Amino acid sequence: MHKWYIGLIVGVIGFVSLALGAQNGLPDEIASYLSWHRGNSQKSFEESAHPVAKDIYFNDTAAETVMAQSFPHAEGSTFLKERTDPETLMVTTIYGMRKVANFDPANGDWQYAVFERADDGKFLGDWMEASSATMCIGCHTGAKDKDYTFLSYLDN
Ligand code: HEC
Repeated sequence: MHKWYIGLIVGVIGFVSLALGAQNGLPDEIASYLSWHRGNSQKSFEESAHPVAKDIYFNDTAAETVMAQSFPHAEGSTFLKERTDPETLMVTTIYGMRKVANFDPANGDWQYAVFERADDGKFLGDWMEASSATMCIGCHTGAKDKDYTFLSYLDN
């Protein structure tokens, strides 16, 4: 096969995955979170901050500490919580936390995010400054022994 032909295929695949990634409106680093690890085997209806149907996803980096149950999580660990409307079964909101070196040392260096689904189906939102995440931090401090992650859904 000619080299340019391989290049073309690689280019097309790259373009398609970029386009798919951009489709849901999420930032690149989390756009394909549906292929990550899902923390809960059944949809979780556990009452908490959000007493609705939810699913929790985390990336490979986070999976290492989750499996080993040895904390703190490594830099780059990312957790996402999907909130599903129990009536429409649409994912309406995605809550995120990712570990960024020296982001907020007093609170475990977690950066929080909220992405809300707009009418066109795309998610709007972004990773927040620590000063905008005081509510998230306040509650997640209750899980400080597991480096601010509750992980309560794991055995569901
Ligand atoms: C009133 C308490 C409370 C507040 C406020 C809160 N959370 Fe949580 N969060 C929880 C609990 C409890 C869980 C465990 C899963 C569940 O039951 O929902 C959780 C789970 C998560 C997870 C999955 C990782 C984990 O901890 O296991 C993410 C991501 C998350 N929350 C993001 C956020 C963000 C972003 C905010 C702020 C916008 C926020 N949370 C505010 C209680 C809270």
